[in-house]
Amino acid sequence: MLIKNIWLKQNLSVFLILVTLLIFNGLVMGDHGGDHGGDDLEKIFTDSYRKGAGCNDKNCPPFGSTNSVAAIAQDGIISENSKFSIILEASITNYQNFGKKIKEFQDILRSLQRRYPQAGLCSVVAFGNNAWKVLTNNDQSANQLKNFVQRGKGEFIAPSTQRDILFHLQCIQMDVLFSLALYTNRTFTGSIKIEEEVHCFKWEESRDFIGFIDGTVNPVGAANRTNASLVSDGQDVGGSYIMSQRFRHELDRWSKVPVMIQEQIVGRTKDNSTILPRDQRDPNAHVAKTFLGNRVLRKSMPYGVVNGGDIGLYFISYSHHLSFMEDQLKSMFGELNGQFDRLLNYTKPVTGSYWYAPSLVQLNRLN
Ligand code: HEM
Ligand SMILES: *[C@@H]1O[C@H](CO)[C@@H](O)[C@H](O)[C@H]1NC(C)=O
Ligand SMILES: *[C@@H]1O[C@H](CO)[C@@H](O)[C@H](O)[C@H]1NC(C)=O
Ligand SMILES: *[C@@H]1O[C@H](CO)[C@@H](O)[C@H](O)[C@H]1NC(C)=O
Ligand SMILES: *[C@@H]1O[C@H](CO)[C@@H](O)[C@H](O)[C@H]1NC(C)=O
Ligand SMILES: *[C@@H]1O[C@H](CO)[C@@H](O)[C@H](O)[C@H]1NC(C)=O
Repeated sequence: MLIKNIWLKQNLSVFLILVTLLIFNGLVMGDHGGDHGGDDLEKIFTDSYRKGAGCNDKNCPPFGSTNSVAAIAQDGIISENSKFSIILEASITNYQNFGKKIKEFQDILRSLQRRYPQAGLCSVVAFGNNAWKVLTNNDQSANQLKNFVQRGKGEFIAPSTQRDILFHLQCIQMDVLFSLALYTNRTFTGSIKIEEEVHCFKWEESRDFIGFIDGTVNPVGAANRTNASLVSDGQDVGGSYIMSQRFRHELDRWSKVPVMIQEQIVGRTKDNSTILPRDQRDPNAHVAKTFLGNRVLRKSMPYGVVNGGDIGLYFISYSHHLSFMEDQLKSMFGELNGQFDRLLNYTKPVTGSYWYAPSLVQLNRLN
C-alpha cells in the first residue's frame, strides 16, 4: 500500500492526465452509467502496466505518454517473453451476459497471475467485426475493423475463416497456461463454440519449423512495441488490430530445397538471420514482400505434431492500423506486382481473420 502510494504520487500528473483522458473517453462513448471508480482505475493501470512493461512495484519506470497507453491495453499485446501460447477462435452463440463472462475471465486471469507471479501469464481477448458491432452498438469504435477477405489465386490462396472471438493466451509455463485455457472453456460454456484451438510454443532459438529464426525484425522493448501495436489516441486508445493466419507447412518438400536456395527464398541466412543483399536473394523473397517492420508487432509461434498431421506456424500480428497488416498480405499474395511470396510455395494458410483487441477500459464496459 505504502509503495503503491509513493509510486502513484511520483506519477500524479500523468495519472491526472490519464484520468482526464478516460473521463473524456467515457463521454465520447456516451457511457454515463459505468462504475469506473478511482480504485478500479488505479488497479487497472497499476496491474496491467506492470505486467505489460514486465516490471514490479520497485522497478517500474514512470509513466510517459507511451506507457500510459500501454497501461490500459490488454497485457498480452506488448508482452515479450512468452514460451507458450494457446489460441482459441470461436463463434459466439449467445450474447446474453457476455460482458459478465468477460469480467469473470479477467478475474480468473488476475487470480492465476497472483498465484503464479513467475509464470508471466498474460492474455488478449479480441473480436471479429460482427461481434464487436453487436457488443458495443457503436459504429465509431475500431472503425478500421472488417471481415477478412480471401486473397490470392490458383494454388496461392489466403482463405478467410473469420470468426467472432479470439483468445490469445500466453505464458512462460505450459501448466499455468493450460489452467487458463480450461477456465476459459468453462467460463464461456453456452456462450461460444470453439472452432479452432492451437497449442503453440517457441522452438529452439526462436526458429520457425522451416528452420529460420523468426522475429528478427520486430519491435523490441515496451515503448517500441507500444508504438507499433497500440492505438495512441481517440476512443480506441490502448486498443489494437490483429491479423491471424494458421499456416500449414509442407516440410517434406521444403527439406529437399538446398539451404542456399532456402536462404534466397526467405532473404536471410539460415544460421544467424543475417539479411542477404538484394542481388543474392530472390526478388520475391519473404523479407522483400513484407515490410513496415516497426509498424507491426509479430507474435507468431510454431505448432504441430510429428505424426504427419498439421505442423506449421500460427501467424499473429498486432498493429495500430489494420491497413499495415493488410498491405503486407496483399504484397505476399501478389496484389502489388503480380508476384507471390516465394515462401508460399512451401507453406499454406488454412485460416485467416482480422480482430480488434479492445482496451481494458472498453472490455470493462461490455454488458
Ligand atoms: C508460415 C508463414 C511465415 C513464416 C515461416 C515466416 C517466417 C519469417 C522469417 C524467417 C522472417 C525473417 C526473420 C524476421 O525478421 O523475423 C520473417 C520476416 C518477416 N515476416 Fe514472416 N513468416 C511467415 C508469414 C508471414 C506473414 C503472413 C506476414 C505478414 C502478413 C509476415 C511478415 C513478416 C515481416 C514484416 C517480416 C520482417 C521483414 C523485414 O522487414 O525484414 N510473415 N518471416
Ligand atoms: C470445454 O467445454 C465444453 C462445453 O462447452 C465441454 O464439453 C468440454 O468437456 C470442456 N473441456 C474440458 C477439458 O473441460
Ligand atoms: C526502439 O527502437 C529504436 C529504433 O528502432 C531502437 O534504437 C531502440 O534500441 C529500441 N528500444 C529498445 C528498448 O530496444
Ligand atoms: C553470421 O554468420 C556469418 C557466416 O557464418 C558470419 O560471417 C557473420 O559474422 C555472422 N553474423 C553475426 C551477426 O553473427
Ligand atoms: C513509431 O511508429 C511510427 C509509425 O507507425 C514510425 O514511423 C516510427 O518510426 C515509430 N517510432 C519508433 C521509435 O519506432
Ligand atoms: C515450387 O517449388 C518447386 C520445388 O519444390 C519448384 O520446382 C517450383 O518452381 C516452385 N514454384 C514456384 C512458383 O516458386
